Amino acid sequence: MPVLRKIRVTGRLACVGSISLLTCQLLHAESGRDAWLRYAPLGDSARITVPAVLVTYGGSPVAQSAQKELLAGIRGMLGRTLRLESSVPVEPAILVGTLADLHMDATIDPDGYWLTTTATNGVTHTIITGSTPRGVLYGVFAYLRKIAMGEPVARLNDRQAPYAPLRWVNEWNNLDGSIERGYGGRSIFWENLHVREDLTRVGEYGRLLASLGINGCAISNVNANPLLLGADFLPQIARIAEAFRPWGVEVAISVDFGSPKSVGGLDTFDPQDARVPAWWKARADDLYRAVPDLAGFVLKADSEGRVGPSTYGRTHAEAANVVARALAPHGGFLFYRGFVYDHHMDWRNPKNDRARAAYDNFHPLDGAFDDNVVIQIKHGPIDFQVREPASPLFGTLEKTNQAIELQITQEYFGQARHTVYLIPMWKEALDFDLHAGPGPTPVKALVAGKVFHRPTGGFVGVSNVGLDDNWYGNHLSQANLYGFGRLAWNPDLTAQRIAQEWTRQTFGDDPKVAETINAIQLSSWRTYENYTGPLGLQTLTDITGNHYGVNVEASERNGWGQWHFADEKGAGMDRTLATGTGYTGQYRPPVTKLYESLESCPDELVLFFHHLPYTYQLHSGKTVIQYLYDAHYTGADAVAGYVRQWEALKGHIDDRRYAEVLAQLEYQTGQALVWRDAVDNWFFRASGIPDAKGRVGHHPGRYEAESMKLDGYEIRDITPWEAASGGKAIACPDPKCAATLRYEGAPGWYTVNVQYFDQNDGASRFRLWVGPQLIDEWTAADRLPTRKLDASSSTRRAVTGVALRPGDEIRIEGMRDGGETAALDYLEILPGAPRD
Ligand code: GCU
Repeated sequence: MPVLRKIRVTGRLACVGSISLLTCQLLHAESGRDAWLRYAPLGDSARITVPAVLVTYGGSPVAQSAQKELLAGIRGMLGRTLRLESSVPVEPAILVGTLADLHMDATIDPDGYWLTTTATNGVTHTIITGSTPRGVLYGVFAYLRKIAMGEPVARLNDRQAPYAPLRWVNEWNNLDGSIERGYGGRSIFWENLHVREDLTRVGEYGRLLASLGINGCAISNVNANPLLLGADFLPQIARIAEAFRPWGVEVAISVDFGSPKSVGGLDTFDPQDARVPAWWKARADDLYRAVPDLAGFVLKADSEGRVGPSTYGRTHAEAANVVARALAPHGGFLFYRGFVYDHHMDWRNPKNDRARAAYDNFHPLDGAFDDNVVIQIKHGPIDFQVREPASPLFGTLEKTNQAIELQITQEYFGQARHTVYLIPMWKEALDFDLHAGPGPTPVKALVAGKVFHRPTGGFVGVSNVGLDDNWYGNHLSQANLYGFGRLAWNPDLTAQRIAQEWTRQTFGDDPKVAETINAIQLSSWRTYENYTGPLGLQTLTDITGNHYGVNVEASERNGWGQWHFADEKGAGMDRTLATGTGYTGQYRPPVTKLYESLESCPDELVLFFHHLPYTYQLHSGKTVIQYLYDAHYTGADAVAGYVRQWEALKGHIDDRRYAEVLAQLEYQTGQALVWRDAVDNWFFRASGIPDAKGRVGHHPGRYEAESMKLDGYEIRDITPWEAASGGKAIACPDPKCAATLRYEGAPGWYTVNVQYFDQNDGASRFRLWVGPQLIDEWTAADRLPTRKLDASSSTRRAVTGVALRPGDEIRIEGMRDGGETAALDYLEILPGAPRD
């Protein structure tokens, strides 16, 4: 009798069965394109019973998607092809259709579903129903998710309604095919000022969205191009709508408030001028003729250089209503962005505070907006920083519809080069009680319109998927779209549950895989915060540039208002009522009290609300400065740990995704060190207070490139200074340069880390020699967002297992290419292999 066991052949085949009769399924290289809808065979499929027959009703495109999805899902996960019948058989079957199709009498929310089991004359039927085809489709996805999660489906009674009616994603896609703050390739919708010929990916994206219950998608950048309202774009928008339609996803577009003038032939866009409403009405009517199910518009006005009602001294309500009234007869919504602030503020006035802007602009207008206007409010008062309190505006709009805007694309979260699972952060915002009414009034209930009984409300996720196979440029980033959709459907789900669902569907049911990936994901926000902006400092990034690498002072002394006021004595912004900007007073009294007092203000937001000396002792018992030092070391160490955790998954997941995520985590490890050193060195220089643990400024084994013997290389001062070790780097002005050092340490095995710069205007090459022997060579051709020598281009190559003897000559040769100068920051020689 052959032994029954589970064999895994490294990264290629997963075989279950006896070794003589293997049932092998290819662990083929997976691209990530199917995301969590891979329907990979389940290890324990035999345990799950489903009827053999499927009866589906309705011929609409959405109903057809439901049928196809169910067949594909069951085939993929359970290896069974359901038998399609056109009438109810006298044997167990799955019946899929609307309440009307099935002649059932029940009340179900328009997007809700009901999974139930009935027994008639001893025959069991599994029913997947809803009041609309879209609800039915959502029910099918829910049924398949249960199977994927290994939950019982033999006896069901699960009736669900979405938490809020409006669940949209926004895609900041430009008509030329680029994506503002997109990190997963070019637009799936547009290219060269035209809709793409091939919209396959739009359909695939629609399927992903539908599986989460997302029902709207704005297909153009909020920094809107008015050309989109031209007649020639109508059929193009219609094509995109058609690609989404089988998945119940309705299309919206972003519009520019100046359009009546910029493209409309009028000499004004004043909402009070009678020609302007007429213009908007005509455009909306045209659009609805081409796309009858258009979901509506998104409008960013008077913000970051976009024109708005202030041009004519009008209010946001007047602006919103003039556009909304054009949509109203067609049932369309206007999402009006609450992200309005002055980006020319005087930083010398200590009472100025960008955090106040959303409330100051919109609170006085509460009640002045039409019922099809939704104020779209970013979850925090600034702009998707690594930690912000919930926006006070949610708690004060009582007579206005609102939606929360969450950013799925990782603009300030490492731009998909860093793994950051955002769900725990969103949960904190959604669950935060703003004390807006007598009972609990968490943000989620406010935005869903439940607290003040609004007709509508919801959730918006800035998603920015691209044509890359895995949609975001990082496999693990997909979990953020998944989590956004699941929370928009049910914000009471926990971050853990969402992680478990996503990992199991995306990477399979191997418990080791689940445990590892979930542990990484669930700790990753705190990790990222630790090395980029702890204590509420915000992300200390290049705020006037690419929002990626570290640049501690970039946010200071300019009008953008993301100041942290760090100087030689202390850091943080005083936003108190007592002595600061008064921002805390925008909350209801219990929340004001929480943040106003240092006694109760949580450590993680303390420098957001208070300016404190570095020696101030936090609730944790540490001083501010020691906390900053420690957090950066803890964060950077945690990322190095992720690499080791991931390596243990080799052979447990397919090779391609294994290797791609490993490369991403290795890169992140290097970037976390850049952040750690830059921020810690900056605060050390500012405060003059040494690290109690003696780490900051001391780097055993580190050799500055500028101290090596240089052949052709020139020494450069780096800006900002903290972006390079010692504030300097070396760059090669000639085709080829070299830097050499003589090793005088103990003999042994070493890892040589080469910290170099990978700019985006060339692909220079490097060679590492020990004596006459070539040890390693590589090309600097990563996709990093700068042509400058700074923290965004700083990266590292770890060369492991190098045998060194005293007197060895270590030489790096750099061959420049284009504008890229084969620049080097330092070499680090550490004993042992990197993962010893
Ligand atoms: C951020 C982002 C911009 C974007 C803006 C917005 O500031 O950097 O690219 O346009 O948010 O949300 O409107």
